[in-house]
Amino acid sequence: MQVGLIGCGNMARALARGWGRPLVCADPVAERAQGLAGEVGGEALASNAEVAARADLVVLCHKPAQLQDVAAEVAPAAKAVASILAATPLAALKAAYPERPVYRFIPSLPVEVRQGAVVQAADPDPWGAGEGPATDRSVNELFSELGTLVTLDDGLLDVAMGLMSCAPAYVALVAEAQIDAGIRRGIPAAQGAELVVQTLTGTAELLRSRNFDTLAVRREVASPGGLTARGLTALERGGIRAAFSDALDAVLKDGGS
Ligand SMILES: NC(=O)c1ccc[n+]([C@@H]2O[C@H](COP(=O)([O-])OP(=O)(O)OC[C@H]3O[C@@H](n4cnc5c(N)ncnc54)[C@H](OP(=O)(O)O)[C@@H]3O)[C@@H](O)[C@H]2O)c1
Repeated sequence: MQVGLIGCGNMARALARGWGRPLVCADPVAERAQGLAGEVGGEALASNAEVAARADLVVLCHKPAQLQDVAAEVAPAAKAVASILAATPLAALKAAYPERPVYRFIPSLPVEVRQGAVVQAADPDPWGAGEGPATDRSVNELFSELGTLVTLDDGLLDVAMGLMSCAPAYVALVAEAQIDAGIRRGIPAAQGAELVVQTLTGTAELLRSRNFDTLAVRREVASPGGLTARGLTALERGGIRAAFSDALDAVLKDGGS
């Protein structure tokens, strides 16, 4: 299936690196599109309309506010469309791109290393198997290459985005805060970073192997009256749960756009 990217910014680059195969793409900054095609293979084209004409599946990677302007160029030729736009429901996408398969996904930056979470909007009226290479199944398989694919009601996609698309920034901040705490107590930054980041990776793997049971992992580390229990109490006193809850509310304010 020939994939065509509309917009070659941060998330388009992560998707392209995750798929790691030639594609066609366009961006208002031609050098950006050329750089991406040069890296993963394929071709940077002069316009969105050319991408639509050449691709079996157009992936919308521009900003949400550009939906109508881009559709005016892309809709006449696009055979099938997948969107990663935040705050843009499936109904709005289908209205902009009628009478063809339309899919809505929200990815997260780790798709670049094929370890991302990708959420897909459940479609009450799915396209099924059409005539072209882009069928519900093949598009599903394409995005599954990027990590774990989870399907949710369309109305929950922006909430999911607030969890998993924002999380790489949150986790990087949490890691940085821990590294800084270590520096304050004499651990050099480079070694502190290795210790913290490797532990993050290992903990994610451990949580997966424990069927995502966060409490079980916490109990294994925090023995009664032990040091970790003291650390956890300090974090709770610092408002860690409220901070993450407030962060999600902040992301979803104004409809998540
Ligand atoms: N970043 C994330 O973690 C993340 C996660 C989930 C979903 N998303 C969604 O992914 C989309 C892209 O986000 P991003 O972070 O990659 O933003 P970005 O880095 O700003 O990339 C957007 C790209 O689209 C280009 N563009 C602007 N107008 C265009 C047009 N008319 N036709 C084609 N391309 C156009 C932009 O060029 P200019 O800069 O020159 O305008 C830019 O290169 C957004 O809709 C966002 O909601 C992002």
